[in-house]
Amino acid sequence: MRIPVQSGELACQSIGSGQPIIFIHGFPITGLMWLHAARHLPPGFRGIVPDLPNHGASTTRSPIDIRDFADDMLTVLDVFAPGEQGIFIGLSMGGIICFDLWRRYPGRIRALVLCNTRANAEPPEGIAYRRAIADSAMRDGVAPIVEAMLPKVFAPGFDQARLAFWRTAMLSTTPTGLAATSLALASRADSFPTVPTITCPTLVIAGDQDAITSPDSLHDIHQRIPGSRFTVIPDAGHVPPVEQPVAFSAALNEFLTKLPA
Ligand code: MLT
Repeated sequence: MRIPVQSGELACQSIGSGQPIIFIHGFPITGLMWLHAARHLPPGFRGIVPDLPNHGASTTRSPIDIRDFADDMLTVLDVFAPGEQGIFIGLSMGGIICFDLWRRYPGRIRALVLCNTRANAEPPEGIAYRRAIADSAMRDGVAPIVEAMLPKVFAPGFDQARLAFWRTAMLSTTPTGLAATSLALASRADSFPTVPTITCPTLVIAGDQDAITSPDSLHDIHQRIPGSRFTVIPDAGHVPPVEQPVAFSAALNEFLTKLPA
């Protein structure tokens, strides 16, 4: 289905029925990365899997910022559960969007799952890097950027045929979309003041071989969220739901089935 949002129109899949779970993917990939997890939820949950603006089959918006992405995710929740609470799962940039949702809409959040993400604002060297990425995308297209990212995204042993699939998914990002999203990441807020204010049930997930957001940095986020839980997925890099889908779903589903009524 397609969902009209402030940024344009989002491609979105809905799987199952019950409590809504919004799955928010990372940069620059698509909602496809969540399909295994969304298809293997326990009974009583609905997996809602949008492509973010500027990604996959959704429309492009430039400029855009992290708050725009967050507002669009709330609009998606409102399509399925108007005014109600949802569970939000975000990976990397998706987690950054979750922090913004918690900052502005805590009453709409029943639980959070924060995967392979970061809470810091972009440091000066990162801002320069992300601006360079944006310029490069507009000048040379997205392929050189995707090729440079791939070895960092997936753990070294990741299957080559599956890697080829995810390369294609990442290459579906338009130059304008990739550039605008890179600049959105560059201007993101510092979420460290937000992290200790999180009071909903929260699971923090890391990949033991993540070269982008280290397990130690995820453990630090977990320690700052009172009562949160922490899981490290073995043999996984930056995208555990793709690299180790069975172990990821087991960790996610254990958390979901133990949520307080
Ligand atoms: C992501 O997966 O969303 C990206 O790695 C985020 C980033 O570039 O920091």
